Amino acid sequence: MKKLFIKTYGCQMNVYDSDRMSDALAASGYEATTEINDADLVVLNTCHIREKAAEKVYSELGRLRILRKSQEAKGKKMMIGIAGCVAQAEGEEIMRRAPVVDLVFGPQSYHKLPELVGRAANEKVVETDFPAEDKFEHLPKAKRETTIARGLTSFLTVQEGCDKFCSFCVVPYTRGAEVSRPIAQVVAEAQNLVDGGVKEITLLGQNVNAYHGLDEKGNSKGLADLIYRLADIKGLDRLRYTTSHPRDMDDALIEAHRDLDMLMPYLHLPVQAGSDKILKSMNRQHTAKEYMDLIDRIRTARPDLALSGDFIVGFPGETEEDFEATMQLVKDVHYAAAYSFKYSTRPGTPGAEMDEQVPEDVKYERLQRLQELLNAQQKEFNQSCVGQTFPVLFEKKGRDEGQIVGRSPYLQPVQVDADLSLIGTIQQVSMHDTGKFSLFGKIVT
Ligand code: 5AD
Ligand code: SF4
Repeated sequence: MKKLFIKTYGCQMNVYDSDRMSDALAASGYEATTEINDADLVVLNTCHIREKAAEKVYSELGRLRILRKSQEAKGKKMMIGIAGCVAQAEGEEIMRRAPVVDLVFGPQSYHKLPELVGRAANEKVVETDFPAEDKFEHLPKAKRETTIARGLTSFLTVQEGCDKFCSFCVVPYTRGAEVSRPIAQVVAEAQNLVDGGVKEITLLGQNVNAYHGLDEKGNSKGLADLIYRLADIKGLDRLRYTTSHPRDMDDALIEAHRDLDMLMPYLHLPVQAGSDKILKSMNRQHTAKEYMDLIDRIRTARPDLALSGDFIVGFPGETEEDFEATMQLVKDVHYAAAYSFKYSTRPGTPGAEMDEQVPEDVKYERLQRLQELLNAQQKEFNQSCVGQTFPVLFEKKGRDEGQIVGRSPYLQPVQVDADLSLIGTIQQVSMHDTGKFSLFGKIVT
């Protein structure tokens, strides 16, 4: 067996893709390793969303160049591949900047990996074309046979690409136009995962609630329909989905949150900013009020639903007043968790061409203020859980002897003193304390 080492950057879709690469390469005799020194093939599955993420790849390649030299001195060959969104965006440029790279391939070509790796043994290979055909077409057979369940929870990509073109974002360029997988294909993969012991599936898409896959009769169906189909799978206990766009939260999906207990009451619904002027120049296609009204409707349907979000500070033209509108929106929503970023100029996006870029020190200062508020809200949310009882899916041993750890519906780690035999089960747990990120509870019998 040859050894494969994959390092994954960025979002959950890359985590999913890395697993699929391992599955694809398992067929040609590669076995995953966590020890880079043993690797015959090193793949960096990269992220291009912000400049910092993209630059990480080049610093890692600097280290790999040295490692490869020392391996060669020992007579050991090591192939280096770059996958993911930096590969898609920069293509051959990567080899020009880092000649140590043997193979560059974009997110649309991981199913061709065995062939590409074979070619890369003899020549430099760059494969970043978007295929004319739907890449998922290649997957059903291979996937059903090779999707390997890797624990109790799993990601499952149901949709890729984005047609929204937010003016700060590279995704529509790196991942291309929206493509949804047919319902039957998703159901088959989910069934396969459940057969392998998976209890909780998170459906993934860059814009997952814009999902519109074909059913067996050739009719286009939305995410809610897909969720109802998956909810019928015996042995599947929990469903989640991420990431959603406010514009695509339709009534059917909101009703699914009302009616389906196995759909977790936790929703990642990025708003990015709270000022209508900035939302408009970001091309988000909704106002702050429309977002707030939507949150009201969701919370009316499912009162125990908690929200998380993404925010960008320092988008071109953002004044102190605009930033204050973001702070106000956060105060009005009360997030359970959130990710926040300084605006990062991405070449090729409309935002990069805009006047009034915000100075770095102003972005930094606003990010500090926003994160302070978001951290306080997260703490407040965790504290509000004390005294409540939730179902917890136990996933593994805890740090201390006699402890097991699981996840609440809100993805908080929950620690309890209980027998290891409960791992893999869902138990009602009453929460009696919070740590920095986790909750402590007792199983209610
Ligand atoms: N600069 C900063 N943050 C960005 N994001 C996307 N593009 C940029 C950018 N150019 C953030 C958004 C998005 C999350 C995945 O990354 O908040 O929701
Ligand atoms: Fe990027 Fe906007 Fe599409 Fe999300 S919705 S992937 S932020 S363009």
